[in-house]
Amino acid sequence: MPGKDGYDLVVVANRLPVDFSVGLDGSLSWQRSPGGLVTALEPVMQNADGAWIGWSGAPDLKHEPFDAEGMRLVPVTLSATEIERYYEGFSNDTLWPLYHDVIAPPTYHRQWWDAYRRVNQRFADAAAEQAADGAVVWVHDYQLQLVPRLLRDLRPDLRIGFFDHIPFPPVELFGQLPWRRQIIDGLLGADLVGFQRNGDAANFVRAVRRLTDHATRGPIITMLDSEGRQGRHVRAGAFPISIDSASFDELARRPEVQSRAKEIRADLGEPEILMLGVDRLDYTKGIRHRIKAYGEILEDGRLDVEHATLVQIASPSRENVGAYQELREHVEILVGRINGEFGELGHSAIHYLHHSYPQEEMAALYLAADVMLVTSLRDGMNLVAKEYIAARSDDRGVLVLSEFTGAADELAPGPLLVNPHDIDGLKDIIVAAATMDPREQRRRMRRLRRKVLADDVAKWSAGFLSVLGSIPVHPVTAEPR
Ligand code: G6P
Repeated sequence: MPGKDGYDLVVVANRLPVDFSVGLDGSLSWQRSPGGLVTALEPVMQNADGAWIGWSGAPDLKHEPFDAEGMRLVPVTLSATEIERYYEGFSNDTLWPLYHDVIAPPTYHRQWWDAYRRVNQRFADAAAEQAADGAVVWVHDYQLQLVPRLLRDLRPDLRIGFFDHIPFPPVELFGQLPWRRQIIDGLLGADLVGFQRNGDAANFVRAVRRLTDHATRGPIITMLDSEGRQGRHVRAGAFPISIDSASFDELARRPEVQSRAKEIRADLGEPEILMLGVDRLDYTKGIRHRIKAYGEILEDGRLDVEHATLVQIASPSRENVGAYQELREHVEILVGRINGEFGELGHSAIHYLHHSYPQEEMAALYLAADVMLVTSLRDGMNLVAKEYIAARSDDRGVLVLSEFTGAADELAPGPLLVNPHDIDGLKDIIVAAATMDPREQRRRMRRLRRKVLADDVAKWSAGFLSVLGSIPVHPVTAEPR
């Protein structure tokens, strides 16, 4: 396999960090996509002679590798059928619901699994082709869990890291997966397997113990072959991801963003209390629970539409997957009912927006919001919570945060923690947030800001890569499977 002349750091993720299209004359145009992972890795990639392997987001788009944003971008082509089976099917209708506590029922289809394996092989082949001898390859997220193993089989000289951005479920749920052993074996191709929370890493190690014969000691897994001979070690650990806090803080301090925040409040009729929800329209986010609780608060008369309003941004996501279509129906019916019942001319109960917005507008919304509602039923981390905090250099605003987010593990005790399944509890917390004394707001926000500004995404990627770099590379011998 090629090696020598390749790249020293190769990132493998389902999506490329740019949206690109190819014109009829074959010309290429691309635009940086705003994802958190790009921000995290861009400086590292630019310094390290890095390549990024990923899908363009469109069907059948074929293009040679190209340079953009100071890195090598290597497009992986997916056919329309592969998008249906690997991306919408196995990734987002099997693994996503299974890894998020089966909030929606996972679907198990053998054809989807076959497509997942084939596409993972394609990503592994591309990585093997791009990586220099002894390079570091960092594989990301649930769409690509077989890549570490497939890549190690092709290139045993590489140092391979994997980071799971979403929760790793307890083995009692993970065990449902007909291909559970293949997934564990896929991940064990890495030298370091990173998770958002200690609990996720512990779930993974338990699954290894339960489903394989390998030896585990704390977070270290020692690979054993069928005769019990020891092979290389795999380390599991928590590396909670973050945002580029300083640049979000800077963005929210800009005069144009500050005045946009004022304009938003004015457009909404200068409410005393502006509540905000910002999510991909996903059933894991607890949007229905939040809206139901808000409707009941209005019904009980604890808040009223002349003084309070809720803005819910729900950005379109995975719109070909049935569970997402159903969720949209439910949310929109619920919003319509509450607005019909409690809204008045000039005073909507809920402003529901099914759009995505640029970062500047998000920063202005965060600044405008007195209360930020993050009520996920399960969430790997939740970066919206961190963005809200980074935007609030005025030390105002209250974060209501679900216990079932990775962010809660890190940020407590600053936010008002909530169990979103407990609608009465959620109502009480929302009202408490809406009526919190400014001194208490400041005390909490200061603590939150110290944490979020210190633990930014650069620290996250540096932390992961330095642990990965410190793991002794095992001599290349026959690898126990
Ligand atoms: C989550 C996942 C990412 C994914 C993102 C958007 O954050 O962890 O891997 O890219 O959602 O979802 P999409 O399906 O549009 O890539």
